[in-house]
Amino acid sequence: MKQAPKHPVRLERQGTIALIVIENPPVNALGVAVRRGIAAALNAAVAHDKTDAIVIAANGRTFPAGADIREFDMAAQEPSLGQLFDLIENAPKPVVAAIHGTALGGGLELAMAAHYRIASSDARMGLPEIHLGLLPGAGGTQRLPRLIGAELAFDMMMSGNQLSAGICAEIGLIDSVTSGDLRSEAVAYARTLTEVRPTALNRTHLMDGGDYMATVAARRAQVKADLGAGALAPLKIVDCVEAALLLPMDAGLQLERAAFEDCLASRESAGLRHAFFAERRAAKFPEAADAKPAKVERIAIVGGGTMGSGIAIAGLQSGFAVTLVEQGESGVNAALEQIGAFYERSIAKGRLSEAQGAAALTHLQLTNKLDTLGEADLIIEAIGEDFDLKASILAEIGAVAKPDAVIATNTSYLDLSALAAATGRPANTIGLHFFAPAQVNKLVEVGVHDAASAQAVMTGVGFAKAMGKTPVRARVHKGFGSGYIGNAILEAYRLAADIMLEDGATPAQIDGAMRSFGFPLGPYQIADMSGLDIAYARRQSKPRDPDVRYVEIADKMVEQGWLGQKTRRGYYIYAEGQRTGVPNGDVLKMISEHRAHKGITARKFSDRDIRDRILLAIVNAGARLLGEGVAARPSDIDTVMVHGFGYPRSRGGPMMDADATTPSIIASRLSVLAPEEPSLWAAAPVLTMLAQERQKFADLN
Ligand code: CAA
Repeated sequence: MKQAPKHPVRLERQGTIALIVIENPPVNALGVAVRRGIAAALNAAVAHDKTDAIVIAANGRTFPAGADIREFDMAAQEPSLGQLFDLIENAPKPVVAAIHGTALGGGLELAMAAHYRIASSDARMGLPEIHLGLLPGAGGTQRLPRLIGAELAFDMMMSGNQLSAGICAEIGLIDSVTSGDLRSEAVAYARTLTEVRPTALNRTHLMDGGDYMATVAARRAQVKADLGAGALAPLKIVDCVEAALLLPMDAGLQLERAAFEDCLASRESAGLRHAFFAERRAAKFPEAADAKPAKVERIAIVGGGTMGSGIAIAGLQSGFAVTLVEQGESGVNAALEQIGAFYERSIAKGRLSEAQGAAALTHLQLTNKLDTLGEADLIIEAIGEDFDLKASILAEIGAVAKPDAVIATNTSYLDLSALAAATGRPANTIGLHFFAPAQVNKLVEVGVHDAASAQAVMTGVGFAKAMGKTPVRARVHKGFGSGYIGNAILEAYRLAADIMLEDGATPAQIDGAMRSFGFPLGPYQIADMSGLDIAYARRQSKPRDPDVRYVEIADKMVEQGWLGQKTRRGYYIYAEGQRTGVPNGDVLKMISEHRAHKGITARKFSDRDIRDRILLAIVNAGARLLGEGVAARPSDIDTVMVHGFGYPRSRGGPMMDADATTPSIIASRLSVLAPEEPSLWAAAPVLTMLAQERQKFADLN
């Protein structure tokens, strides 16, 4: 974020109305300079004897989007948001908040402290603190239930969802909605006001204490049942909303402040805040910092399999015109079936109306003719991972694409530079590696290579963002592991797991240990879900590295036809239509025979051993990727692991976890394991350097 301007708040006058204007790009976060500026402007406005009412508004893209999150790790500076909002609420002249853009967190709390609220019809409001492991800590938990009642207040604070201005007006959160010029409408509105509305004393929704307490009790029970005692912020929100009824305003605010401080000090909030900034940092590409993305309106996807169809759906859902090219009529029909099935499911589940589904499909063009690609601004090749096939299709794409089109390959591990060269226009070619299911998974690795132009790279980044995805910069490397960041780390993760499997652990034990750490699924559940044949084909296509221990168990399973969920038999056995299985006894028997064959005596691994080894493998692989320039920063690895592999977001990511343990302790643990399997455990140079210099991964972000 840019340096805050020196004077981010201005006081203007329009006759008897004082206008306080906040200007702190990009999102008018309520940092200390803004808080001081509003306080000074408010005092001056109140002191002016010609002021009848005061309007607080913001320039730029939005009304404040919250407290300045970057200040949370610094010493507190006065006035706090709470102090400022007291000042606003206790102002002796009516204060109107004029809301546009997204009034979020502290921004919405500011608006709630004002006596009246008017919003542009396209404004949105929300309290997203929960996504940062926090609660609205500047009066939101006390003012919101007074304004809209406990039930709706819980809905907003527990979900973090944004509500439209129209809905906010319906539920009583704002007083007026305008589709005209917000600033002049707000001033006109302020002119009609003759009194200060006593917001803090508004107890309408607290009157029926019986219903209110029943709602509180139900939420507390629900939070405990759904999330358990570990969910600090949700439980504290319940306490605060309860206090809004039971305590006077001042005492409620104090309780809220203490609850906010507790949440702020939690590991969970530190992890979630790290994840927030890591995602935004990941979209900044050092090699293309000043480049502007080209406009993308029509995209084309070549290859309509699961991945290509998923990308097409993601594109349609984000408002792009989509051309999908498949081979022959049967390919086109199969792609149409997959995309149609998505829309049918979404309509059946009420996520989309029939009209929305039908409208989206009007922007889809399905064809088997490559020469239709000439209209596309961005063309994504999404066929199988076969270098020769990809290279020949990319050459065909290069021959028909318009001159300034960006061409992307969805390869996950092939040589990107060579594929880019195959198009005949390497400067315009990048990697865009989506993760399945592409219509759901938010991660996109944007592959860069030496010949790629900055504009092509940033066009890929801009496109991914426009689809609501999280782009992360990556290079393909051919050293340890394979692929960009995600697959290379997954390979280390799987090798650490497979070694334990071969040496004595069971698939269910390893999966259970990783689930108890916070992953939604263990590695063998994921393998069953993805289909064992996919990874098998990849292993077969690569020369085997004699310095890396090879565990043949998965190969033997594929040779038996045990491919996972698709054959209802993999590491687990699945009943018809079920996605959760029971351990496959035949696999356990096969593993034990396999050990005997290799002369391995089974040994015991505790759940802790399993977690430690896998996490060490992930961190060490991450450190190697940093050293090789595959990943630009440690926090990019965190983003990939959180979005691509379900690493618990509240932990921030593996590199943040490694910092908590410290790189020097990690390095010494690795040195114990290294003799067992150097390819996995020999400490990466970056890790050794950090350990020696007593530095942390965060220092490299
Ligand atoms: N504090 C500091 N920086 C913030 C910020 C905040 N609250 N919100 C956004 N930013 C920064 C981002 O880090 C980013 O910085 P860079 O350009 O340097 O990367 C920049 O603003 C733009 O943000 P986005 O890239 O996310 O822009 P967007 O248009 O995609 O989204 C947004 C805008 C919806 C406001 C989104 O940034 C967002 O959700 N922000 C967080 C909102 C939030 O959580 N508010 C609550 C804060 S906690 C609070 O207020 C506690 C309290 O009760 C006292």
